[in-house]
Amino acid sequence: MKFNVLTLFPEMIEQGINTSITGRAIKEGYISLNAVNIRDYTNEKHGHVDDYPYGGGAGMVMQAQPVYDAYKSIVGEEELKKEKEMRKRVVFLTPAGKTFNQRMAEEFAKEEEITFLCGHYEGIDERVLELIVTDNVSIGDYVLTGGELPAMVMMDAISRLVPGVLGNGDSSVDESFNAVNNMLEYPQYTRPEEFMGMKVPEVLLSGHHKNIENWRREQSLERTRIRRPDLLD
Ligand code: ADE
Repeated sequence: MKFNVLTLFPEMIEQGINTSITGRAIKEGYISLNAVNIRDYTNEKHGHVDDYPYGGGAGMVMQAQPVYDAYKSIVGEEELKKEKEMRKRVVFLTPAGKTFNQRMAEEFAKEEEITFLCGHYEGIDERVLELIVTDNVSIGDYVLTGGELPAMVMMDAISRLVPGVLGNGDSSVDESFNAVNNMLEYPQYTRPEEFMGMKVPEVLLSGHHKNIENWRREQSLERTRIRRPDLLD
């Protein structure tokens, strides 16, 4: 999986993704990261990438030209001659997008290459969005200062579904929101058997696999009922 990120803060992306499991996945070649600084592509002599919004209003709007040229530097002229539906996916992170979820992560994980476009200020000139963006995605109903954290959230969720990224000891099957049961994960325990007077549930020490499986299923259901009843509808 190849990730490209168009951003004004490439070092933020690099530091975030080159850490922990995604960092290991990059070292081992399962994923790659190419963070491109939009500012490097501005034609403006003072290095500006934003300007006042036509029609007035607060804040600044990122200009189309540097975004378009940064994108072109990644995909090349040939890609731009294709119909948008035939091109590699370009995800614009915006609170005005479709809400990201595990299903979408599974879909995106099938791609070979994804480009993320991170906005700042009050947005990006609509014309360049029309030209290059294939997907508008939000990570939730709240407003952040930029698209970098949402892009990292998406890359993390997608990466762990790429075969090889999770080591043998890790699992992407049993946890919350898997495609099979759409339920929250059951509680987990490790040593010691007693902590601050609290004991590990007896059934988990029994070695009886069927009973353990049943107990976990009940716990998942109960948890989902209490915390996320909307998932059971
Ligand atoms: N940019 C600012 N807020 C965002 C959000 N909630 N999701 C995606 N991109 C954003």
